[in-house]
Amino acid sequence: MTLVPPYIASLEPYKPGKPIEEVKKEFGLRDVLKLASNENPLGPSPIALEELKKSINDIHYYPNGGYDLRVALAEKFNCKVENVIVGNGSDGILSYIIRTFLCEGDEILTTEAAFIGFQVLAKSRGVPYKTVPYNNWRYNLPEIAKRINEKTKIIYLANPNNPTGTIFTKSEFESFYQKVPKEVLIILDEAYFEYTCTDPSYPDSLSYRYDNVITLRTFSKIYGLAGLRVGYGFAHEELIGNLLKVKLPFDPSTPAQSAAIGALRDKDWIKHSKEVNEEGLLFNENAIKSLGLKVVPSKANFHMVVMKTEEEVNKIFIELLKKGVIVRPLKSFGLPHCLRITVGTKEQNEIMIDKLKEVIKNL
Ligand SMILES: Cc1ncc(COP(=O)(O)O)c(C=O)c1O
Repeated sequence: MTLVPPYIASLEPYKPGKPIEEVKKEFGLRDVLKLASNENPLGPSPIALEELKKSINDIHYYPNGGYDLRVALAEKFNCKVENVIVGNGSDGILSYIIRTFLCEGDEILTTEAAFIGFQVLAKSRGVPYKTVPYNNWRYNLPEIAKRINEKTKIIYLANPNNPTGTIFTKSEFESFYQKVPKEVLIILDEAYFEYTCTDPSYPDSLSYRYDNVITLRTFSKIYGLAGLRVGYGFAHEELIGNLLKVKLPFDPSTPAQSAAIGALRDKDWIKHSKEVNEEGLLFNENAIKSLGLKVVPSKANFHMVVMKTEEEVNKIFIELLKKGVIVRPLKSFGLPHCLRITVGTKEQNEIMIDKLKEVIKNL
């Protein structure tokens, strides 16, 4: 189709993890467990739900562009409202970044098999997308720094990384940062920040503010609000000011904003969610290893399992589906021999491991 540029025609659309209802129907199952998209298995805080319900009374009015949430985030993270942007999920803000900063002739630089949402958005702009292989499933920051050239405009780093679950440390990032020219924008995607922020080696990017760094976070993971689509970002006010020119004026919706503000108030819910995840991480890592599988130690709320072949991954994926457990094969990310499993509740993790054990026996 000549109307469509070749870089769009050749693009594979983002395919989200399989929905529960679809799997129930396809396999005639009553109970299905979704461990495919790294959501909080406990769901959102009751305070968030309360605020969500209240907001329904106002849905005949247009939203205020996320202003109230920006104020709440600025207060919580001790910065100015002008340093904060909110949007329809952090992928909404990623799309604004792509539209705001990339010009013809620019290049994007990141790791191999980066978060698929970023890959799809970045490639939709039609500029060269350059990657550097992982080093033991971690970002190879020294090599990324070496690959910067005069065309590099955006460097995308997710910390913790999806799909590997690994992090780069404060000292690794700081020595990398010294090598990045000021004209290059670094996106620090911290979607899983809350799961790892107490690790002393983790570089909380808000503890320093560089003029060419944008931090992205989300209410989709530990806050349990993935279905409402709310993400946020921090950066220098000039960068935020330019992003706001491109932002869809009414993102996020009023209910989404209200729930997010409620969620921010409930610190106990986050603490509890984090504890459940820590237990689950440990349990799943040990249990997956004890099945003889190779699992990458994770700092987030999921694990990447490394198989020998794509066929093995497909078999595990399909057989788990038949048993009512949805996990995520990583072919679309660029890792056809890997799959990703989200940490669930204790009970869900036990079910997943039991089913995985049965599947592995027949592999
Ligand atoms: C690293 C990373 N960034 C961004 C996102 C997107 O989050 P949101 O739901 O806020 O768009 C995800 C979701 O899986 C993710 O893993």
